[in-house]
Amino acid sequence: MSKQSHAHWSSKLTFILAATGSAVGLGNIWKFPYMVGESGGAAFVLVYLLCIALIGLPILTAEWLIGRRGQENPVNSMADVAKSAGRSKGWVMVGISGVLGAFLILSFYSVIGGWSLSYTLSSVTGGFTGQDADAIGELFSGMLGNPGQLLLWHSVFMLLVIGIVARGVTKGLEGAARTLMPALGVLLVVLVGYGMTTGYFGQAASYLFNPDWSKLTGEVVLAALGHAFFTLSLGMGIMMAYGSYLGEEVNLLKTARTVVIMDTVIALGAGLAIFPIVFANGLDLNSGPGLIFVTLPLAFGNMTGGMLLGLAFFLLLTFAALTSAISLLEPVVEFVEERTPLSRVGATVVAGVATWALGIAALLSFNVWSDVLFFGLNIFDLLDKLTSKFLLPLTGLGAIVFVAWGLDKEGVRKELGMDIYDFSLWNLITRYVAPIGVLAVFVSSL
Ligand code: PHE
Ligand code: NA
Repeated sequence: MSKQSHAHWSSKLTFILAATGSAVGLGNIWKFPYMVGESGGAAFVLVYLLCIALIGLPILTAEWLIGRRGQENPVNSMADVAKSAGRSKGWVMVGISGVLGAFLILSFYSVIGGWSLSYTLSSVTGGFTGQDADAIGELFSGMLGNPGQLLLWHSVFMLLVIGIVARGVTKGLEGAARTLMPALGVLLVVLVGYGMTTGYFGQAASYLFNPDWSKLTGEVVLAALGHAFFTLSLGMGIMMAYGSYLGEEVNLLKTARTVVIMDTVIALGAGLAIFPIVFANGLDLNSGPGLIFVTLPLAFGNMTGGMLLGLAFFLLLTFAALTSAISLLEPVVEFVEERTPLSRVGATVVAGVATWALGIAALLSFNVWSDVLFFGLNIFDLLDKLTSKFLLPLTGLGAIVFVAWGLDKEGVRKELGMDIYDFSLWNLITRYVAPIGVLAVFVSSL
């Protein structure tokens, strides 16, 4: 409601940490490697990197800019900024579809967060120790086939998210984002080191970086584009919401570059950790969402100190998932809080319980509802594909078109602190390259 009461980040560093906390998550460590596996390797990776640089980075900047100017939830921010620029009220749709996207994603994201929790426990109870690939595979399919177990962990995960978000932005988000990210980075380095001992590191690196262009289809390009949005938390109002807690002093473009680089390094690191294990054990590249859960436990179960490393890894993965999940709930809560008479806590509970309920439908699609299909997809896949391949790119497109075409150019240039020279490149990318890229990928996929 009143802008004066809208909270702010306590420092620039905590903003960077929170934005990175949102970006770095299951998308990097769980989703990126299995998408690479499904899409056939390096061709996907290279297109993905292009999408990140040419489309993701400018859209991230654009979302922060809108949020910072609006200083409210994504829907109100879009409405206000459009109004003061003399633009149509219809732009508010960009905010609305963002909030909707966040809600849909969190429902299935929390299910995977639950898998990570469950594996944290398995790692200490010796579930991986000395197991071969078959036993590890059974551990995973056993979990998927057990709705009660999935529900338990999904619920625990959602409760943690609700608990943190209810405490509000400065206490809840910052405290959580401050410490554990670097530890996750260190652990990935250890796992990449383990990958080097398998004798299959070279093959993995070549799989990731040496493209077989015959693998490049429209479908693969759309998947890469969608994942670029997912991994940077774009097209959901999240970065807009985070930008709304931001003061004038932050250089948006520089900060965006930092966040993008960290996110990309973690994803590539996860790939370099996982594929050597896949090749060394003759595992199926096309394992889908189970990939990290059937590869990494094998490594942990068969290396010295693996129990401790396994515990640390799944704890940190859970933590990375939590900081992203918090960010997914945030725009929904911010919206409910500022649009209804509910308090922060009330809004968090309402949004959280609704998300939890939808998550139950997602987890049932791995077992009792595996036959319930829409357009040939189970509910989990439907939520995933609908958001990544549709909602996020379209919402992101709206944000970039709005900033590039709808706002006063000179004001944007000053706000981003660019000289005329850099700004013409920015203009070229945001007005033409990025929007045309997104549209072209869309049209070709239809
Ligand atoms: N970017 C997060 C990840 O890579 C996931 C996420 C998606 C978070 C969308 C917020 C919004 O895991
Ligand atoms: Na990410």
